[in-house]
Amino acid sequence: MSSLFANKTVSPLQKSLKVTDEEFTQLRDFIYKESGIFIAENRKYLIENRLSGRLKELNLKNFGEYYYYLRFDPRRKDELAKLFESITTNETSFYRNPPQLQVFQDIILKKVLDKLRAARTKKLRIWSAGCSTGEEPYTLAIMLHEVLKAEIVTWDIKINAMDLSLAVLASARTGLYTDYALRTTPKEIIQKYFLPKGAQCEVKPELKKLIHFQQGNLSDRLGLKRLERSQIVFCRNVIIYFDDEMKKQVIGSFYDNLLPGGYLFIGHSESLHNISRSFKPEYHPGAIVYLKEETGGKI
Ligand SMILES: C[S@@+](CC[C@H](N)C(=O)[O-])C[C@H]1O[C@@H](n2cnc3c(N)ncnc32)[C@H](O)[C@@H]1O
Repeated sequence: MSSLFANKTVSPLQKSLKVTDEEFTQLRDFIYKESGIFIAENRKYLIENRLSGRLKELNLKNFGEYYYYLRFDPRRKDELAKLFESITTNETSFYRNPPQLQVFQDIILKKVLDKLRAARTKKLRIWSAGCSTGEEPYTLAIMLHEVLKAEIVTWDIKINAMDLSLAVLASARTGLYTDYALRTTPKEIIQKYFLPKGAQCEVKPELKKLIHFQQGNLSDRLGLKRLERSQIVFCRNVIIYFDDEMKKQVIGSFYDNLLPGGYLFIGHSESLHNISRSFKPEYHPGAIVYLKEETGGKI
């Protein structure tokens, strides 16, 4: 996680404000309606830790006032963006969950590319949903280069990288990373695809070129329908923050977005069990991937 987000919680020197039961319910329901993120009763401290600093900045006395500010103040749209920045968990890294990425690079990507070649098209779309500070879509871009090599210039490729938080997207667009973000990236990959920039490393332009970063809300089912359709969707470590109803809705959006024969990748601690029977699970060593069958599955 970048140091940009180290200020999410109040510092140990500052005391966080207490949220009453009523205020918690109001804010929890508001956050759920706006983002799909569900904060359980036993995680009240999240609201207190992450939002107390903001209340102090706005000179608000309690969380009830903050709720009214979010609902009715003329600056509520800007505040909503700040709220999203505070409540989202943006932890990520390059090459996160290597066994799953190996399956992507060696098996799924090759299969999808062969299918496209057979259909005489070279248009590939990948959706990285909940891309955070960019490590996931840049990793996918590296893998595309590794597989296609010089042939990549003959392909029309776009990775649609989407997140709710404008702050993480701004950070992702810079393409600048510390050694910490690259801690699990093979040395030869760092040498090949990054340039040193001061104390940081910057991703090379050929990776940036493949990615289109954009703000989007996974709870906005209608808005997501406007996104171009994909052969592959990555949504890892995101639905873990949603309740079952929202998980079903979001997985339904991925199903609709995927072209027949397309694949969905979710986080290793996440599952579609009791959420969706539309996809056909494919079991590979180190990863389960979800196929949208050509004939269409059951919803
Ligand atoms: C833990 S990070 C995961 C990043 C990356 N996919 C990975 O696995 O390393 C979760 C990301 O999901 C984003 N997110 C949460 N709710 C979202 C929503 N409703 N719409 C879009 N993005 C959302 C957060 O802002 C955060 O950046």
